[in-house]
Amino acid sequence: MNTLLSVRDLSKSFPGVRALDKVCFDLHKGEVHALMGENGAGKSTLVKILAGICHKDSGELFLEGKPIEINSPAQAQSLAIGMVHQELHLMEHLTAAQNMFLGREPKKFGGMLLDENKLNQQAQALFDKLHLRLNPATLVSGLSVACRQMVEIAKALSHRSRVLIMDEPTAALNSAEIKELFRIIQQLKQDGVGIVYISHRMDEIQHIADRITVLRDGVHVATVPSHTPMSHVIRLMVGRPLLPTEKAIPNGTNSEVLLEARAINRGKWVRDVSFQLRRGEILGVAGLMGAGRTELARALFGADPMDSGAVFIRGKLAKIRSPKDAVEAGLAYLPEDRKRLGLVTGMDIAANLTLPSLKKWLYGRCFLRSKAIESVACRMVQRLRIKTPSVNQTTLQLSGGNQQKVVIAKWLLQDCDILMVDEPTRGIDIGSKQEIYGLIHQLAAQGRAVVVISSELPEVLLLSHRILVMCEGRVSGELRAHEANAHNVMALATRYQRTAPCEALA
Ligand SMILES: Nc1ncnc2c1ncn2[C@@H]1O[C@H](COP(=O)(O)OP(=O)(O)OP(=O)(O)O)[C@@H](O)[C@H]1O
Ligand SMILES: [Mg+2]
Repeated sequence: MNTLLSVRDLSKSFPGVRALDKVCFDLHKGEVHALMGENGAGKSTLVKILAGICHKDSGELFLEGKPIEINSPAQAQSLAIGMVHQELHLMEHLTAAQNMFLGREPKKFGGMLLDENKLNQQAQALFDKLHLRLNPATLVSGLSVACRQMVEIAKALSHRSRVLIMDEPTAALNSAEIKELFRIIQQLKQDGVGIVYISHRMDEIQHIADRITVLRDGVHVATVPSHTPMSHVIRLMVGRPLLPTEKAIPNGTNSEVLLEARAINRGKWVRDVSFQLRRGEILGVAGLMGAGRTELARALFGADPMDSGAVFIRGKLAKIRSPKDAVEAGLAYLPEDRKRLGLVTGMDIAANLTLPSLKKWLYGRCFLRSKAIESVACRMVQRLRIKTPSVNQTTLQLSGGNQQKVVIAKWLLQDCDILMVDEPTRGIDIGSKQEIYGLIHQLAAQGRAVVVISSELPEVLLLSHRILVMCEGRVSGELRAHEANAHNVMALATRYQRTAPCEALA
């Protein structure tokens, strides 16, 4: 039989949430089976149960037709079910090989000593199999996110995994790294490994998946072949057809200059960058991974020191030495790495949303206007479709994408005149993306100014009035909305490029 893994009537509840409701799901040998659905649909919960990280309430699991129980990650591993975790699951101070064979290292002298040579040889053999150019003796702390992911895959293979689970594996990878990951996935498929693949990126799914299972509110909606038109898949996910977002209307060019950057330099990442941003304007910053976009934003925001350059806000020289100075000057920044930087996970949604603008929510000096807080939080939860039983849920209990939405809502609620957003829709489902675009448009229409940094070209093209393209730390060109297209933006993004993209992995 072709079926590797079967899930029957799987249910799982958390307080106030039915995360999975009698879900059925089959994984074939040698297939990539994508799991899709809005943020909070239950995708991660399903795979966490398969990987033994989370326990089911009810339902049955079968591996090649035989009933199985999975109560711990070790048990999942012994059943040849592996999960590629984000980089955090590897031990930084150990080498790639030591991580892969943790707890089952080859020994010498009758088990007294670790046989480092043999360990590295075993790891090397797996790297060779995957055609990876990686040294097994490298410390994990020195590896890029992409390389750490490859080590995780090799580790799963060392357990002879026949089922491999990947939960949003490309979230932190650049396009060359994604290509490398896809090459390895193809190879695993040929070896008969079944892969469960979670992603919000439609282009990826169409490229790599064989079948798609859609979950909505914890319920299995449909399983369809991956050549199904994406508009249909979206309708299955969201439960309604999506209206296309309107493209930004080019704004007047005569409004006040809110932000001016003059000859900003920061190491090799930002070189001589100058630009102006006017009231009511949305400025897109495009470029390949490593072009210096995030570094520019961090330098402007005072999160990293500049080597030289000057920032003017409303025409006045601004002395920004820390994020606090920036916020006081009216400049806010939504960081790309929101998991680490964005949330107080022990606090509830309402508190997280109002924390940075706390002054606004006080009567006198110390009484919180809790009704007002609650109502604004409810409004944001509705608008961004944050899936939660209430605004008093701690953010730790939200799904990955819903946590992101809280961070975004928090910055959108700030009173800052100038907002810089870095990858605003990464990990966000397609329906909510449009709401976020709508909110960004609204901010600009209210007379604020927005800088949008994004690796998703369609997003930059759709949102921006003007696009600044960066390459190797410099501004390689500037395009107005009506003249920009994927072709000329890409040409500028690679204008000064010296290193071949593939070297990024080495
Ligand atoms: N430990 C937990 N405690 C309480 N609720 C939880 C917990 N883990 C998940 N949930 C809830 O279960 C539901 C499903 O979450 P899950 O993480 O599976 O979603 P997801 O489909 O992976 O979403 P995303 O695309 O945002 O990653 C969500 O409503 C979430 O808030
Ligand atoms: Mg998830």
